[in-house]
Amino acid sequence: MESKTTIELNNNVSIPLLGFGVWRVPSGEEGRSIIRTAIEYGYRHIDTARVYCNEKAVGRAIKDSGVKREELFVTTKLWRDDFSDPRRGLMQSLERLGLDYVDLFLLHWPFTDYQKAYIELEKLYKEGYTRAIGVSNFKEHHIESLFKAGATVVPQINQVECHPENQETELLSYCRKQGIVLEAYSPLGGQGFTLVNDPRIMAIASYYKVSAAQVILRFNVQRGVVVLPKSCTKERIKQNSDIFSFELTNDDMSTLHSINANKRRAFDSDKINDRPESSFPVLTDEE
Ligand SMILES: NC(=O)c1ccc[n+]([C@@H]2O[C@H](COP(=O)([O-])OP(=O)(O)OC[C@H]3O[C@@H](n4cnc5c(N)ncnc54)[C@H](OP(=O)(O)O)[C@@H]3O)[C@@H](O)[C@H]2O)c1
Repeated sequence: MESKTTIELNNNVSIPLLGFGVWRVPSGEEGRSIIRTAIEYGYRHIDTARVYCNEKAVGRAIKDSGVKREELFVTTKLWRDDFSDPRRGLMQSLERLGLDYVDLFLLHWPFTDYQKAYIELEKLYKEGYTRAIGVSNFKEHHIESLFKAGATVVPQINQVECHPENQETELLSYCRKQGIVLEAYSPLGGQGFTLVNDPRIMAIASYYKVSAAQVILRFNVQRGVVVLPKSCTKERIKQNSDIFSFELTNDDMSTLHSINANKRRAFDSDKINDRPESSFPVLTDEE
């Protein structure tokens, strides 16, 4: 069975529906080896961020892999420290990644003055330092406020927590109307919360002779949502990449839809700017 492995963004850039998430993938040699393994298993899309402190490991793994730059889709995200100077943020990320451009540059959260930061992202996009721009952890009202502030580029992506227990149905439908592709972070339910033991999902998985994780990822891919599973385990990295060889029926999709409980585990983005400074991760420099 052949199924679609990419989706078009609103600027005709094609993005792989499967990406490798690297939050809490270590930096240094260990991270480099894990990310290289993912590329060897066929992942062509890597999702990192300044705050993950592993951009150098991503860049080194890309170099090691021997895969041509244009065959890879690399995302990074602007952290709050650089919201006042997104250009500096992107240039430093590019240096750590060892790349001339990224494929996607996102505002990580709607931190203070995110509207101004987005207008700066538009300039970087027009100058070719990133092939697409977007946002993460944005609700509808955050996106609307970009337009009110004079944004002229419709974000290509909104990356939010999305899995069977938190399907973001309304946000997905709003984004579709706007021409924004939704990316699912924590697509398996998140670190420490995976949904792989849910009996309803396990029953579907056993029918297709795949794992519950594969069914969970396939569910989102089948509704046009990009998935970014993270794993540091070889066997799981491989397993999570095999989601294009089976197709869920409408009945399976209905069962999975019924699991939705609007159960978001991530921080509420409306309250992100109330968080005390000390609660944010400390940025470290990689060797
Ligand atoms: N924009 C944002 O604010 C934001 C926030 C969170 C995440 N993200 C992005 O989304 C990516 C993924 O999200 P996430 O890391 O929160 O969680 P996730 O991908 O939903 O889940 C990862 C967890 O599931 C385990 N796992 C992976 N494959 C499995 C399998 N086949 N069977 C059973 N368990 C499996 C992993 O364990 P092992 O590693 O031990 O295999 C890990 O503990 C991140 O890495 C990051 O790129 C973005």
